[in-house]
Amino acid sequence: MRVTVFGTGYVGLVTGTCLAEVGNQVVCVDIDEAKVAGLNKGVIPIYEPGLEEMVLANHASGRLAFTTEVAGPIAHGDIIFIAVGTPPDEDGSADLKYVLAVARTIGQHLLRPAVVVNKSTVPVGTADKVRAAIAAELKARGSEVAFEVVSNPEFLKEGDAVKDCMRPDRIVIGTDSAHALEQMKRLYAPFNRNHERIIPMGVRSAELTKYAANAMLATKISFMNEMANIAERVGADIEMVRHGIGSDPRIGYSFIYPGAGYGGSCFPKDVQALEKTAKQHGYSAQILEAVEAVNARQKHKIFELAERHFGGQLAGKTFAVWGLAFKPNTDDMREASSRTLLDRLWAAGAKVRAYDPEAMDEARRIYGERDDLVLADSPAAALEGADALVVLTEWKAFWSPDFAKIASVLRAPVLFDGRNIYDPNEVEGAGLAYYGIGRGRTVATPN
Ligand SMILES: NC(=O)c1ccc[n+]([C@@H]2O[C@H](COP(=O)([O-])OP(=O)(O)OC[C@H]3O[C@@H](n4cnc5c(N)ncnc54)[C@H](O)[C@@H]3O)[C@@H](O)[C@H]2O)c1
Repeated sequence: MRVTVFGTGYVGLVTGTCLAEVGNQVVCVDIDEAKVAGLNKGVIPIYEPGLEEMVLANHASGRLAFTTEVAGPIAHGDIIFIAVGTPPDEDGSADLKYVLAVARTIGQHLLRPAVVVNKSTVPVGTADKVRAAIAAELKARGSEVAFEVVSNPEFLKEGDAVKDCMRPDRIVIGTDSAHALEQMKRLYAPFNRNHERIIPMGVRSAELTKYAANAMLATKISFMNEMANIAERVGADIEMVRHGIGSDPRIGYSFIYPGAGYGGSCFPKDVQALEKTAKQHGYSAQILEAVEAVNARQKHKIFELAERHFGGQLAGKTFAVWGLAFKPNTDDMREASSRTLLDRLWAAGAKVRAYDPEAMDEARRIYGERDDLVLADSPAAALEGADALVVLTEWKAFWSPDFAKIASVLRAPVLFDGRNIYDPNEVEGAGLAYYGIGRGRTVATPN
């Protein structure tokens, strides 16, 4: 099929590439000229396992093109995806300006019938706004060309995006048009061979499904962080509690890891946006408010542990930080817990020596040159001259370090494990003080 994708970020680039991989003719459009020029030269703007090879191969085969031009690509697509960003507005609701700008552009250039598919995460009711924006532009041109608007939310995970796109758990298609559903089924047939993954539903249900999924996952994390904060006050180990509850098949082991808070471009903004949608409809979403509040507090957890360990004397101390990305296998630092920690350490007069396997360029872009930040080129280099070590992203490369060596290098041997990936006994046995999340009595109990 002939496919056009607006937006070449995590979602648009991965979707466009996977659709080209299975034989479609795909044109990806972005307004970012530098990004498009880079893609045309084989420079992939994000780190995603498996993506680079796939982009290069499909681009070379002529099935995948990148452009900033709009008229040609709109004429090209039987199916036109909108996969642009929906960042939070000032009040936390989703800002639809990019989505609606694409809708207007489509309306200005559409010459033949097409199915317009919204893949961005958008509040319930957005499909109606997209439809109205396209229709208004067509009307202004005196055009009566037919089009349909479908909601097809994206569930890929950064770090696993290509895999998720090639083997999706589910394909949610929100439409009340039999023709549009048929087109979408044809497009997704190569991803749907093993068993039926397509879940057709109404447009509004599809829009809400995406928010509900992210809100549920964020809730699991904040719930576990809440339990961790109780555990450390009562002298329990949250890791034992996690095993104890995960063994119940009604609860399960996935996504119940306590830690230094969730980040990324999705959970924080989507929980907030859903809360706003609820409010706009006269409903106060109390669970969502608590999920967000618990997470905001959790992002300060490691700093607070460090402050207490050093008796409030952080000025002049140097912290080695392993992991800057909001999770492993990505270079994305949007809303990452590392950002909260670094800001607080700097505000307290401490210095940072940081290492991340993929996010160094992103860190350089965000922070530039500053005296209190060294971007080290290895985990070992980050430790040089440091007082303490903080691990904030559970990259596989950090899982089995030589603790004795770390203890011998650090000036005040202490390890803050923001993801509970280490065995406290092993760490302490090597001569380091250990702090995890919710593991033992790190908070004094009042009498
Ligand atoms: N990142 C994820 O893991 C993920 C997963 C599922 C859903 N989503 C949702 O998908 C949407 C896109 O997310 P992302 O992470 O890919 O965003 P992103 O910020 O990585 O990329 C968005 C891209 O859209 C481009 N763009 C903006 N306006 C444009 C226009 N008028 N025409 C063409 N291109 C334009 C930007 O230049 C940018 O390259 C968001 O709504 C997000 O919530 C993201």
